[in-house]
Amino acid sequence: MCGIVGFTGTTDAKGILLDGLKRLEYRGYDSAGIAVQNNNVIKMVKASGKVDNLVELVEKNKDIIGNSGIGHTRWATHGVPSDVNAHPHMSTDGKFAIVHNGIIENHAEIKAELIAKGAKFLSDTDTEVIVQLIDYYYKGNLKEALMKATARLNGSYALGVLCADSPNTIYAVKYSNPLIIGVGAGENYFASDITAFINHTKNVIDLDDGEFASLTPDKVTIYDHSGKEIKKEERKITWDVAAAEKSGYEHFMLKEIMEQPAALKATIEPRIRDNKIHFDELDIDIKKYDRILITACGSAYYAGCVGRDIIEKLCKLHVHTEVASELRYRDPIIDEKTLVIVISQSGETADTIAAIKEAKSKNATVLAIVNVVGSAIAKLADYAIYTWAGPEIAVATTKGYTTQVAILAMFAVWAAFELGKINEKEFEKYTEEIKKIPERAQRTLDLNARVKKLADKYYQKRSMFFIGRYLDYAVCLEGSLKLKEISYIHSEAYAAGELKHGTIALIEQGRLVVAVCCYEPLLDKIISNIQQVKARGAEVMALAMEDNKKIFTEADDVLLVPKIYELFMPVIEIIPLQLFAYYVAKNNKCDIDKPKNLAKSVTVE
Ligand code: M6R
Repeated sequence: MCGIVGFTGTTDAKGILLDGLKRLEYRGYDSAGIAVQNNNVIKMVKASGKVDNLVELVEKNKDIIGNSGIGHTRWATHGVPSDVNAHPHMSTDGKFAIVHNGIIENHAEIKAELIAKGAKFLSDTDTEVIVQLIDYYYKGNLKEALMKATARLNGSYALGVLCADSPNTIYAVKYSNPLIIGVGAGENYFASDITAFINHTKNVIDLDDGEFASLTPDKVTIYDHSGKEIKKEERKITWDVAAAEKSGYEHFMLKEIMEQPAALKATIEPRIRDNKIHFDELDIDIKKYDRILITACGSAYYAGCVGRDIIEKLCKLHVHTEVASELRYRDPIIDEKTLVIVISQSGETADTIAAIKEAKSKNATVLAIVNVVGSAIAKLADYAIYTWAGPEIAVATTKGYTTQVAILAMFAVWAAFELGKINEKEFEKYTEEIKKIPERAQRTLDLNARVKKLADKYYQKRSMFFIGRYLDYAVCLEGSLKLKEISYIHSEAYAAGELKHGTIALIEQGRLVVAVCCYEPLLDKIISNIQQVKARGAEVMALAMEDNKKIFTEADDVLLVPKIYELFMPVIEIIPLQLFAYYVAKNNKCDIDKPKNLAKSVTVE
């Protein structure tokens, strides 16, 4: 939540900062602002709403000139989205400006203390205490002031700081929120995410918690928490700027849906050798565990629900799922015989991080399935399996989710073999099926035009149900979330057999029921459920495996999905539901990539 960016170089900073903020906007879009430094004076401009509002203001403000600066795009936590609560925040004397991603838990107490000392606060944010605190401790040595100020803070923060006394210098501080340095030629950057500066440099340095850095156009200096200068290795980003741009698509979401075959291929293929699945990154003896607990949030949790069903089926091992935001409050039964699998696209989700800490405090082994290399979750876990989905910019996850499900399916097959639950021949047979996933995903995208037509037919419905059984139900959870979050249309995912226990009261003439019928062993069961809702006036759009003739006599509309082994169907069958949500939202003129009230990475509890 919230994106920050900083630049120092020899060209005017504002264009680079605004461009960086546009690329970071997926992290929050309640307000945005920049501050630049010129001739020992800091100038700032900020505006509520999206970065475009800020761009307009900056264009009108001829004072915003300087070769170094910082910027922020906000997802509001403390104080309403407004101009005054927008970042950057400045110290009363105008000497410092800061941008902040995170939350300061003890801000009220620090604020009271500083007010008593004469500081004047303008905003309702927690962030303003940081800049006033730095100002309070500053006696000519900024490094010292930063250390003293941050030592007082409880919470999480990635900070960018400008000081009027330090021309051409920007400062970055990291604690519990992401911050990456971009090393250029005669110019340097920091940002919450590489996408902010990938069009300028691919050389990055990852900061660890407690570290801070000072950047001038020619030099990046990094310090550890005690202020000692340290050397850190640079790494090179392998993906290209196009991966972080729309490349001709109207929305990132559509682009990312279309990228799924490639993302799945990149995730699956390197892990297959000699017709078997290999996790070189996993050095564990799976026999040691008597249960698996899968925990995550939102779509990642729903991927976990699919994973639970596949792992249990193939490994004959107890697998539980728990939303990460609840895990630590349930005093869960976790011990050294529990393998905890956490799933996260961003690798930053605060609730998932808290769940890892809870699991580790109970001596569990933690395995993370994560997309962002070097992210907090990847570092905290004992083992990290990367999904190679590439950067995902749209707030609604698509390729992040499908690559997670693919890894879980592969893990299930791999673990089943390690546990002796399947023999070598079966191992090879399942691997062969997994290999088909990218091609099947590609073929599923051929449904695009047909799904669009169905969205044109149904987009005015104000409430929908997604029903399915077993694995299909797990997919419904994700299909329903996709629709809700980007189209703002109420929808519910229901285990089809549960409808008759109460919810069927909501089925009425014209209610749309999306019936997911891909798990063929339960086809007759879901068909009965379709008949039950049809008898009460529902319209039914069904999703089924190709060759399914039966379904045509039951449903009003049918989407047929390419066939693959039934346990691996979820990776494929979600794709038409993603497209459906996309076109319904588009017809309803919603802001698809930046749905209201949401942000891509949820770094607050
Ligand atoms: O980055 P993570 O995978 O940890 O994020 C977890 C959820 O916030 C996320 O999956 C969210 O539900 C999606 N944006 C929904 O599309």
